[in-house]
Amino acid sequence: MCGIFGYAGKRSDALEIVFEGLKDLEYRGYDSWGVAVVPENNNGNGRIVVKKKAGKIGRSSIDDLPQGTLALGHTRWATHGGATESNAHPHLDCTGTIALVHNGIFENYESIKKELLKKGHTFTSETDTEVAVHLVEEYAKTMTFHEAVRRTFNKMDGLNAIIVFRVNDHELVVARNGSPLIIGFSKKENFVASDAAALVPHTKIVHFLEDGQMAIIRDNTVSILHAKNGKPIQPIKHKLSWSIAQTEKGKYRYFMLKEINEQPKIVRDIASTLSQAEKLAKVIKKFRNVYLMGCGSASYVSLAGSYLFSQIAKYPINWAIGSEFWHQLKFLTKNDLVIALSQSGETMDTLEPIKEAKIQGAKIIAIVNVLGSTLYREADYKILIGAGPEKSVASTKAVTGKLAHLIALSYAFSGKSKEGKALLMEAAKSSEMVLESKNITRIKLLAKRLKNTRHIYIVGRGLSYPASLETAMKLKEISYIHAEGMAAGELKHGPLALVEKGTPCIVFIPNDELYSANLASAMEMKARGGMIIGVSYKNHDIFDYYLPVVDAREATIIPNIITGQALAYYLTILRGLDPDKPRNLAKSVTVK
Ligand code: F6R
Repeated sequence: MCGIFGYAGKRSDALEIVFEGLKDLEYRGYDSWGVAVVPENNNGNGRIVVKKKAGKIGRSSIDDLPQGTLALGHTRWATHGGATESNAHPHLDCTGTIALVHNGIFENYESIKKELLKKGHTFTSETDTEVAVHLVEEYAKTMTFHEAVRRTFNKMDGLNAIIVFRVNDHELVVARNGSPLIIGFSKKENFVASDAAALVPHTKIVHFLEDGQMAIIRDNTVSILHAKNGKPIQPIKHKLSWSIAQTEKGKYRYFMLKEINEQPKIVRDIASTLSQAEKLAKVIKKFRNVYLMGCGSASYVSLAGSYLFSQIAKYPINWAIGSEFWHQLKFLTKNDLVIALSQSGETMDTLEPIKEAKIQGAKIIAIVNVLGSTLYREADYKILIGAGPEKSVASTKAVTGKLAHLIALSYAFSGKSKEGKALLMEAAKSSEMVLESKNITRIKLLAKRLKNTRHIYIVGRGLSYPASLETAMKLKEISYIHAEGMAAGELKHGPLALVEKGTPCIVFIPNDELYSANLASAMEMKARGGMIIGVSYKNHDIFDYYLPVVDAREATIIPNIITGQALAYYLTILRGLDPDKPRNLAKSVTVK
């Protein structure tokens, strides 16, 4: 969480470049933001100029700041200290000549702060980060600047990434352990950011900094070093395949709407990657036990994946939530395989069990969207989701992309790749129909009816159970309406007590062997006065609202989920909220 961006080059609009970079990274945290620049006419004795503000970048401007060729910036998701201007990054040392931004948690900051206070340092924020910049200041009294940053970084316990500069050295010193940092190479200018997508407007040639690596970034050189001993490392340059258009909103008002609409094409693209699924299906067959694992929406996809494998491939696969995987983890051996699902590839609750599973000897398949991410690099085998950059905090296209890959894998596993491909094509078509204007009009109408509701219940059986969980997640996180997804069979075991006259109840009723059972659950809710919203291939008398979804057998889960996404999106817009940046959240959850 938190977005960081740095520029070292010859252009005097360094700050503008950083500011635009921060806007691209804002989905990583938007409690506050800040930038720092070394003014161009500093004549070797100036101070760093900083601007920080609480809240989102929104329409803020940096026109009041001087030009300069070295700059850095930060968008914050608060951990230590409230979301105030003084706690916003960058933080400065006592002399105002060293600036630092930080992503992560500096776990042992309190003891170091005590020592620095004794030495006379003064602090102006409540953050752990400010301690790091004063420690750099202290070390730099007796050693070179990079050495001071290196020592500081090695003193920091926890998972951290930092960028630091000093007023008279035209360089950024950066270091990473746990939190991502990507270096972008260009002619006479170099960049660093916490996400590759933010570098795409400037360069596609990148080095993904590994844990324990640091770098000294100047306008014409980048030196990469081991943070532990300062020894040099050769960069490993990768070429990013994302385009600038993919990183922009284009004709859409919000990224979420753009990303929802991209899904039919992504599903079609995945349907054309049969050989990849066939190769991985052979790998899966070699193992004794297979586990699907992810967090949040990715955990619901994991659950759906275990249903898909049992239904299509007739093969049992376990599933787990990343932060709850520990109790299965301890039994893993070299005969076991973990399939980890993640959009960002940086989710701490997914990465930690993966690292542990590897220690136990298990092998890892990553189904991940971000090339070069930590999960991508940790995995023995990888499938890139191919959804393109996902910028809305609420995951949409990465969720359905993961599902499409799991459908392709289940069919490949049972030797029926072509059938899987045909089904995904049907799902893409059905998804397109969900997004047609006459359907969206129905969804908007329903959103109007639900605008002021306080609770929504969503149920389904089989694959419609993870679809219900995912729809509830989307509704909760962006519209802030309490929504509960559950297995329809569970209703009568307790939650039915909450259904009363007018309670909105969404029921997924696809054309599968559970049709009658799903319908029976809808009737149970109707009998208690529930307002029934049927998501189905055909209408029924008991529905108060009907949202049609053309059937695509097991792959119907994809258009069903898209229906839920669209409903959540339009409800959010009607409630006057920002669907891309929901309160209290951030994309890429790199803390525990
Ligand atoms: C929900 C959402 C989150 C993520 C979860 C895992 O809309 O976006 O629940 O799915 O934080 O993130 P990744 O897939 O990046 O590991």
